[in-house]
Amino acid sequence: MRRIKLPGHIAFIMDGNGRWAKRRLRPRGYGHKMGVQNMFKVCGHAFELGIRIVTVFALSTENLARPKEEVEELFELFRTFFGKKREKMQEMDVKINVIGDISVLPADIQQSILQMMEETAHCTRGLLNICVNYGARQEIVRAVNLAVAYGRFVDEAGFSSFLLTGGIPDPDLIIRTGGELRLSNFLLYQAAYSELYFSNKMWPEFSKRDLERAIENYSARDRRFGKV
Ligand code: IPE
Ligand code: IPE
Ligand code: MG
Repeated sequence: MRRIKLPGHIAFIMDGNGRWAKRRLRPRGYGHKMGVQNMFKVCGHAFELGIRIVTVFALSTENLARPKEEVEELFELFRTFFGKKREKMQEMDVKINVIGDISVLPADIQQSILQMMEETAHCTRGLLNICVNYGARQEIVRAVNLAVAYGRFVDEAGFSSFLLTGGIPDPDLIIRTGGELRLSNFLLYQAAYSELYFSNKMWPEFSKRDLERAIENYSARDRRFGKV
């Protein structure tokens, strides 16, 4: 890539798994499986390029209302990922942080998640936030309730610290695949000044080169933050 301005934090709305599979006459679960594989590829490339923080939207709170079979297939993928990929993550030297209410997941998956977070806590190459059963409105309401419980008025910094992303810088670039032009309850507070990039590619087919294109596009933008 040409000399470019890298975003410090990229967030992905990994959308389009189901449609990608359907076009290939395969079940939606196959799309999710290939989606996980592509997550390794694309996030790995982001870290190779020097991005320090990557966040992926793996499962929204609203996704849990999908048919039971699909939710179970997704849980099974989480079971494999968090259960079997702990060494791989340590090799990649990437710290894993899961964001969202994981209490709805089967106990063994919750356990593997905590284990992966513990075993990668020392990793320094990059931070990978995985949003599981995450919803931005729920996150904001929770933060308000925490502030109320502490009985104090908060400023912006104080409020941010109550969010599930507390301590993590806001995403500079949010990339959504799958062709939809919306945020779907993802990082609503944190996205205040994020640059948005939409790709018509379905997530399983979003390539390393597509990521580079998105970063090049970001690099050419003028982020004014309301100033002149
Ligand atoms: C994104 O792909 C992954 C999840 C929401 C879990 P979808 O499952 O939404 O795929 P499409 O949008 O139906 O194609
Ligand atoms: C957003 O995709 C959630 C994830 C990618 C995990 P959805 O497929 O759930 O979003 P909508 O329903 O098209 O808004
Ligand atoms: Mg979708």
